[in-house]
Amino acid sequence: MTKTVKDYIRTIVDFPHEGILFRDVTTLFADARGFRMAIDQLLHPYAGQRIDKVAGLEARGFILGGAVAHQMTTGFVPIRKKGKLPGATISQSYTLEYGEAVVEIHDDALQPGEKVLLVDDLLATGGTAEAGIRLIERLGAQVIGCAFVVDLPDLGGRKKLEAMGMEVHALCS
Ligand code: PRP
Ligand code: ADE
Repeated sequence: MTKTVKDYIRTIVDFPHEGILFRDVTTLFADARGFRMAIDQLLHPYAGQRIDKVAGLEARGFILGGAVAHQMTTGFVPIRKKGKLPGATISQSYTLEYGEAVVEIHDDALQPGEKVLLVDDLLATGGTAEAGIRLIERLGAQVIGCAFVVDLPDLGGRKKLEAMGMEVHALCS
């Protein structure tokens, strides 16, 4: 039978903490057919739409977002964990399924009015994506969609982003 994107993702029990079922997309990325399928499916809903930049959330959002940006012929903007970006940044703190963190974006990475597609591997509580959206909007740009490979619906991220008026697209849950 033909494999779907979900078939390439494995689950690691108790990582990074006891009780967490970690959905590991490295096995998807490592497979040529699986990786191409994921990128094609991430792009699909945005065909014909104006997108000026793709923004990726560290770390796996860089791998997906870079490939999506290449395919769309847009620029790519990294949203990184605190202290990693070399230029002047703005910061946003957030909580996630297993901790707290701060993400940053270069303060000149986006121009006011630019239309941005936000990409990450997985949506859980939505804390990371919400922080990314806040950073993009604080620079005056507009998030036209949030695209993920995996949605974990029990953790409420999709509801949180949709309540912010976001369009959420996920390849599997
Ligand atoms: C994972 C995942 C998302 C985030 C989702 O990243 O790649 O970015 O968690 O969780 P949330 O919806 O509850 O915010 P992680 O924080 O493990 O960082 P990493 O990609 O740097 O390993
Ligand atoms: N990020 C937050 N929760 C996660 C999970 N269960 N698997 C992979 N990444 C995650």
